[in-house]
Amino acid sequence: MALESKDVIILAVESSCDETAAAVVKNGRHVLSSVISSQIDIHTVFGGVVPEIASRKHIENIDYVIKKAMDDAEMAFEDLTAVAVTYGPGLVGALLVGLAEAKALAYAVNKPLIGVHHIEGHICANYIEDINFEPPYVALVVSGGHSHLLHVKGYGDYEIMGRTRDDAVGEAYDKVARAIGMGYPGGPKIDAAAKEGNPDAIVFPRVYLEEDSFDFSFSGIKSAVLNYLNKARMTGEPINVNDVAAGFQEAVVEVLVEKTIRAARARGVEKVAMAGGVSANSSLRKRMLEKCSENGFSLNVPSPVYCTDNAAMIGSAAYFEYVKGVRDGLNLNANPNLKLGDR
Ligand code: KG4
Ligand code: ZN
Repeated sequence: MALESKDVIILAVESSCDETAAAVVKNGRHVLSSVISSQIDIHTVFGGVVPEIASRKHIENIDYVIKKAMDDAEMAFEDLTAVAVTYGPGLVGALLVGLAEAKALAYAVNKPLIGVHHIEGHICANYIEDINFEPPYVALVVSGGHSHLLHVKGYGDYEIMGRTRDDAVGEAYDKVARAIGMGYPGGPKIDAAAKEGNPDAIVFPRVYLEEDSFDFSFSGIKSAVLNYLNKARMTGEPINVNDVAAGFQEAVVEVLVEKTIRAARARGVEKVAMAGGVSANSSLRKRMLEKCSENGFSLNVPSPVYCTDNAAMIGSAAYFEYVKGVRDGLNLNANPNLKLGDR
């Protein structure tokens, strides 16, 4: 591969949950390779991610995934500028596998190490496909473990406007899916079932909290769905799972879109972005685009494959840290509760 001497080539590793991923990214925006080895089939048997199994599978897969990423990018280790890795938040055992691997590699090939915050990675997925996209903007970050509304003022410069006070959106999707017998991971299954259901057949509560709050709460709607199911089962009423999925999704999407638009208005930005696994949701993407257009905001959303966990987003985030001069030592540790903005 022909490289310019000023090109920044980063090998990124991601292992915070149930995907073992590696990618090679050029200058933060050009994905030269992206390899994702999913463990979903294994965890589906247990109805959710089993941390011990996740760590073991990461160990089995990581060498292969990194080698494939390097081969697909037609790169040798000497071509790299740096090695990046997610060091939090996530499952501690899972994070440690990627971190130990990245440290060993960085040491062996004598390249700098850059630790990346997983959510910062999700946000930076927006820089990959639209190479002209840049801050400032308001971002809705919705994943299995996080739900945040952020004002992204610059690269790596975030104001947290709101966050969930209880369950993350993806967690609510996964729990509701389990309750209606759809299995793990629930998001894509509810997304598909909702297309066959009537979103107005069952009206679940919309939780907006205080009038000026950008926080979220999803435990109430999750409980409302569980109560509806229990009541129907006790009284022997038939349950139309497609209608339940559609009603649940309608309520969640309405709140996510409404609060994002309010946040964008409040900060006076022109651009809105979404990130994280739930931003792969077809209804959320469609509704957010409609409302952004109505209100004069542009909308940026990564392709579904860059919404869910991947390493290309980590390579992008690492680039913006690298150009700011951030380097980590080999004493970098996994931090399962790492907060956005902490270093
Ligand atoms: O970002 P992600 O891959 O991992 C975390 O960082 O948590 O997000 C995973 C979450 C899961 O809860 C999954 O059910 C949800 O994203 N998800 C979806 C969809 N695809 C994945 N939720 C709703 N609709 C989807 N199409
Ligand atoms: Zn994630």
